[in-house]
Amino acid sequence: MEFPVFAPSSVCFSSGKGGVGKTSISINTALALVDRGFRVLLVDGDLGLANVDVMLGLSVQTTMRDIIANDEDPRTVLVYPEPNLAVLPASSGVPDMVNLGPEDQAVIGQILQVLSADFDLVFVDVAAGIGPSVLWFNTVVHHNVVVITPDPTSITDAYALIKVLMRDHNRRRFYLVANMVRNEKEGIQVCQGLIKVVKKFLNVEPEYLGFVPRDNLMARAVRDQVPAVRSAETGKADEAIRKLAARMARGL
Ligand SMILES: Nc1ncnc2c1ncn2[C@@H]1O[C@H](COP(=O)(O)OP(=O)(O)OP(=O)(O)O)[C@@H](O)[C@H]1O
Ligand SMILES: [Mg+2]
Repeated sequence: MEFPVFAPSSVCFSSGKGGVGKTSISINTALALVDRGFRVLLVDGDLGLANVDVMLGLSVQTTMRDIIANDEDPRTVLVYPEPNLAVLPASSGVPDMVNLGPEDQAVIGQILQVLSADFDLVFVDVAAGIGPSVLWFNTVVHHNVVVITPDPTSITDAYALIKVLMRDHNRRRFYLVANMVRNEKEGIQVCQGLIKVVKKFLNVEPEYLGFVPRDNLMARAVRDQVPAVRSAETGKADEAIRKLAARMARGL
């Protein structure tokens, strides 16, 4: 079955390996793009263990699951932490949602298409791994961003994800973001290493999109439930995220 590609520009943040910073980066980059005048829809695509709402300190009553199971109106499920940022929350602790079948995927695809008409950008933050829902979200968006860290297992997992998306889903353009690096130099180095291997063995060339340094501000932001770019403190991480947002604002 063919699925629709969302009308506005859409971006999926994935990684293969868990805990590399997908959710932190998608939330903060979304907010930095809001600051640049974009209206952003942030979809919590981590269908089994949702946490976009937790990281934003939101109180969520209904989720994507209510749209599927109870025909809830998709627009009433959206939560607006700010006028130009909407979150489509997912449910947590509902194993059924992790591996959606084609019918539910088609429903979510339609919902996203309807909702996305009101936005300039759609971000999807997916779960770790290469499960069916992760792969599906990656195939209905325009752009695939893969988050890596200097950890070798994050790099091999990212390679595996790119390989599956290429081989089985015909995706050919990938953007890399290096998180938890010391500085931009290390970010570029880590990405270049993966780009070289992907180019050699898979014959596509992912593009370096940006880096986010390891910064306590990011960890504290999660604990305080206030994203780094909205924190009163500023640091290296939010500066890098604003740079990443500026790069994305120019178009992928
Ligand atoms: N640049 C950074 N510097 C320091 N800590 C970070 C950074 N980025 C993320 N973290 C921390 O790493 C942890 C994991 O981040 P996050 O939840 O965003 O990762 P994830 O890839 O979405 O994880 P999952 O695979 O479980 O969905 C969080 O505690 C977060 O605060
Ligand atoms: Mg996450």
